Amino acid sequence: MSYYQVKNFEEYFKHYNKSIREPRKFWDKIADENFTWYQQWDKVLEFDMQEADFKWFSGAKVNIVKNCIDRHLAKRGNKTAIIFEPNNPDEEAQHITYTQLYERVSKMANVLREQGIKKGDRVCIYLPMIPELAVVVLACARIGAIHSVVFAGFSASAVAARIIDCGCKMVITSDGGYRGNKTIDLKGIVDEALKTCPTVEKVLVAKRTNADIKMQEGRDQWLQPLLDEAVANNVAEIMDAEDPLFILYTSGSTGKPKGMLHTTAGYMVYTAYTFKNIFAYEENDVYWCTADIGWITGHSYILYGPLLNGATTVIFEGIPSYPDFGRFWEVIDKHKVTQFYTAPTAIRSLAKEDWKWVDKHDLTSLKVIGSVGEPINEEAWHWYNDHVGKKKSPIVDTWWQTETGGIMISPLPFVTPTKPTYATLPLPGIQPVLMDELRNEIEGNQVVGSLCIKFPWPGMARTIWGDHQRFKETYFSAYPGKYFTGDGALRDEVGYYRITGRVDDVVIVSGHNLGTAPIEDAINEHPSVAESAIVGFPHDVKGNALYGFIILKEAGAWRNQDNLVKEINEHISSHIGPIAKLDKIQFVSGLPKTRSGKIMRRILRKIAEGDFSNFGDTSTLLNPEIVEEIKNGKV
Ligand code: WT7
Repeated sequence: MSYYQVKNFEEYFKHYNKSIREPRKFWDKIADENFTWYQQWDKVLEFDMQEADFKWFSGAKVNIVKNCIDRHLAKRGNKTAIIFEPNNPDEEAQHITYTQLYERVSKMANVLREQGIKKGDRVCIYLPMIPELAVVVLACARIGAIHSVVFAGFSASAVAARIIDCGCKMVITSDGGYRGNKTIDLKGIVDEALKTCPTVEKVLVAKRTNADIKMQEGRDQWLQPLLDEAVANNVAEIMDAEDPLFILYTSGSTGKPKGMLHTTAGYMVYTAYTFKNIFAYEENDVYWCTADIGWITGHSYILYGPLLNGATTVIFEGIPSYPDFGRFWEVIDKHKVTQFYTAPTAIRSLAKEDWKWVDKHDLTSLKVIGSVGEPINEEAWHWYNDHVGKKKSPIVDTWWQTETGGIMISPLPFVTPTKPTYATLPLPGIQPVLMDELRNEIEGNQVVGSLCIKFPWPGMARTIWGDHQRFKETYFSAYPGKYFTGDGALRDEVGYYRITGRVDDVVIVSGHNLGTAPIEDAINEHPSVAESAIVGFPHDVKGNALYGFIILKEAGAWRNQDNLVKEINEHISSHIGPIAKLDKIQFVSGLPKTRSGKIMRRILRKIAEGDFSNFGDTSTLLNPEIVEEIKNGKV
């Protein structure tokens, strides 16, 4: 494979400039040299930014899973593809070779076909972080079924909403999952969700916890007996470059989650290329990303990116604090991990504990360490650099989104000098720009603005499932001709980017992207609640936490407000998931609103942060007096 090109900083600039002068040529060469295609493309790229219409490598025929597995078999058949590290450290880790992965994915693909799944069908995957999750995802892609992985922390109604939105025919789940010292009843949640999902015909159930679960006659089947019957080879579906690969839901600033659709060839080229370069991956490295496969990080950088490179990738079932705060470091030592990729929220929570948890483990195998999901604050960056990277392994602070498919702005290790809290420079082929309020591009350095991308890249999402209009409006209309990220950023004196955070109504809590609107919708369904407004406020460990301002239908009717707070949080938990619970709730008699009825969240954000200075002009408010009341009642 030949796409690792940049050797030093000077070369980066040359390479970068060339890549954006001739982007088609740049991607054409990468696609040509690093993959196996049934048929080459006619055109590298056709696009229309206004219509949000993008076609990469059209005319090409390919199967991404053949590129992830089959083509490695001759040279890497006995190499470990997946290391499975169970939740319980006393349970033995599993090493799955490329040959074994081929056999397991083939069997699974055959089972799916036998169960009536065809190219283009949607399959919902609701599984814990066990090898079956990887196998099922890859089996779907092998036969051209569109996988929709739903993070196994979402509640029944969130699962149902995602199944209904894209009309899944099948759900694949397990009898349960382990997380630290808890077990989670995944099958029970699926049963509850399916009460409202008429499109689901079949449920396949993997065994993990041996929990006593109910199987619905005619709908539910245990997976293992079906696999036992299946043959261990399978002819992959020949896919068009732009055939859908998967849907992954992400929160939006209005109610319904957005089903981001990624397609086959562009996503393959982009995740493979970025993985290789950003993690400076070399043969025989052991790479570990701690994300869950239920998020885009897991799709792109636990499964597709590493496997496309023939790498060894770790799948970890557990959590950083179980059985103790040394678990991450113990696993690095145990499997001699060379690249470690995690989230700032995990770093902050571990940095609160004694260093001895890190220092008692041997981390000398590490070469590159990464961060993803939210801005990493200076203190956490230094702790990570000092204690984990030992000031030797560069930190790659990688900025990207579910929508971008892969990493967009990041240092290249051993090439780009790092700078705490900076994602630094765009990857070759990526053209970020900062925009001002008048929608002009801001030139020069030492500037701040809204982050946009002004030229397509192969990994970008192609649409929102079933709602192309929303895709256009959300991403391509605020700054015509450009992709709007929803993030604000600054560019320093040398041109390095630092992402400052969301500029829309999305709050990132412990690395989870949460729209405030769906949480408000859930709260407003509580019988005692009239109206609510949710904002984020800074939190030491989570990065941001949620603060709810809530108007009750009958003020004072609730004598025991503690109970109500609990009830509201339970309500959120069951509608969205425990990650969306509010840290603080303040009952108010009104919310600051503009004359057109829009809630002035800017003011609520300042109050939640405890910053009572300079609310700006409040005279345009419909009810300026409410600000004083809310200020005095801050919790
Ligand atoms: C949002 C996307 C990308 C995979 C995980 C999250 C924030 C992500 C960084 C970073 C600062 C970051 C942005 C972005 N974000 N990485 N390195 N520095 N902020 O995917 O759930 O789609 O969230 O996460 O705000 O827009 P996601």
